[in-house]
Amino acid sequence: MQNEYEIKKEMCEIGKRVYNRGMVAANDGNFSVKLNDNEFLCTPTGVSKGFMTPEYICKVDAKGNVLQANKGFRPSSEIKMHMRVYQERPDVNSVVHAHPLYATTFAICGIPLTQPIMPEAVIALGCVPIAKYGTPSTMEIPDAVSEHLQYFDAVLLENHGALAYSDSLLSAYHKMESLEFYAQLLYQSKMLGEPQEFNKEQMDKLYEIRRQMGLPGKHPANVCPNAKAGKPSCHSCGGSCGAAAPEAATADADLVASITKKVMDQLGL
Ligand code: 13P
Repeated sequence: MQNEYEIKKEMCEIGKRVYNRGMVAANDGNFSVKLNDNEFLCTPTGVSKGFMTPEYICKVDAKGNVLQANKGFRPSSEIKMHMRVYQERPDVNSVVHAHPLYATTFAICGIPLTQPIMPEAVIALGCVPIAKYGTPSTMEIPDAVSEHLQYFDAVLLENHGALAYSDSLLSAYHKMESLEFYAQLLYQSKMLGEPQEFNKEQMDKLYEIRRQMGLPGKHPANVCPNAKAGKPSCHSCGGSCGAAAPEAATADADLVASITKKVMDQLGL
């Protein structure tokens, strides 16, 4: 089990990777780690995440209020987006936001990443929808992201960038890396011609591998919003994801949880 200082050091290391791989420019991007239900570490606003040291890292509560920040540092301007993910996805322990070149290009053109073209992307990510545009630092982004949280572990932010979340910082970062690699492959294969997509049989096999691996998180192999609603799948899963009983039960449980949350929000509970 890492102590708080070790987690801060890991956040600095991830900052270097995100910056050095060109997934952010200048001071862009932010990430956070959940310590417990009321304490979260996050990157500070307005600094290059590639040059951070542990003293840069801020601590906030579940509402994003500052619990601890060294002089000259304030939490990320996007902290509300992070907090919304933790609030609606109790299984998530880390959130990573970046502006990777290819993924952001798709987000700017309004093209979600839904073409199944390589096994790793299908197994690790499924497909990646686009959350509608919101003004940075306002509640518009958390509200837009919220629509996708119960079904996906990564989303594009329209005309902005990408968001990935998982059970650990490294895993959330890896999702961002996979997302960008997938976006780059999709872009380049479209330049060469029409990318060849997997057929239903190939997809079924890949989704079965994902189930066998028991990977955490939400994925169309486990929860497909369209298959659940009896519509044709929008996520290249051929509808197979809704077929198995345990997955269907998970989907129902998710739906009940989401409706309960909306009712409680409306009642102000
Ligand atoms: P912060 O430096 O405030 O985290 O903002 C960076 C960013 O990329 C906003 O989208």
